[in-house]
Amino acid sequence: MFTFKKVVLLSALLISFTGVPTVSAADKVAGEQLASNCVGCHGAKGQSTHAQWPNLAAQTQPYIVNQLNAFKSGKRTNSMMQAMASNLSEEDMSNLAAYFASQAPASAGGDTGLATVGQGKAAMCLGCHGSNAQGQGAFPRLAGQHSDYTASQLNNFKVGARKGGPMQGVASSLSEADIKELSAYFGTLK
Ligand code: HEC
Ligand code: HEC
Repeated sequence: MFTFKKVVLLSALLISFTGVPTVSAADKVAGEQLASNCVGCHGAKGQSTHAQWPNLAAQTQPYIVNQLNAFKSGKRTNSMMQAMASNLSEEDMSNLAAYFASQAPASAGGDTGLATVGQGKAAMCLGCHGSNAQGQGAFPRLAGQHSDYTASQLNNFKVGARKGGPMQGVASSLSEADIKELSAYFGTLK
């Protein structure tokens, strides 16, 4: 669970993790054209209708670029996304990210009982993920994301299947119940 010591440690990590990448002037129109390859899974305008596929709508541009690079290099593993990202240039990634970042956010919803408990545990996440979990720079938007997707990523961080800067430390402090409740809470936000 959350202890003051961990919060201090995480704040220190946050300070050391401000390497927000510079984004070149990106072209949303070019991004929209490329996005026709993505919306079959990620949904029209990045609002996905299935929890297996994360919402990309209103996700932060630097985070999307980072993830596409991580799939391309194999740092983040997923057979579908590694195949998709292998063909993308830096410019494609930045254009796609500009397009999805500029779309209206989705709200996947979540179990309201779990969400109420999750709300009480979310404070330690918001320093990085934004006061409304809307994301900032390399810290992704969590608001409105499918709760099953969020929970699966937290479990991936926890077991080390996904490496993500400070998130392995954060996730290892969460119980199974914390993960369900937090994921439900973020899903209900917009
Ligand atoms: C065949 C289905 C499929 C297609 C097509 C697809 N994706 Fe994905 N995408 C996925 C899945 C599944 C995940 C979740 C991977 C995981 O669980 O780690 C994902 C994850 C992502 C993520 C990470 C999101 C996050 O919140 O961390 C980004 C960014 C992304 N996709 C961008 C794209 C882009 C851009 C395209 C088009 C060029 C695309 N995807 C096409 C299935 C797809
Ligand atoms: C010290 C800063 C920090 C704190 C505190 C933090 N996170 Fe994160 N989180 C990050 C970063 C950075 C990433 C992106 C990692 C990457 O690039 O793969 C991330 C990624 C995530 C993701 C993956 C999102 C996606 O779309 O795949 C989830 C889920 C997440 N965090 C949930 C949480 C929760 C829940 C908490 C609170 C219990 C929390 N985070 C606290 C920095 C933080």
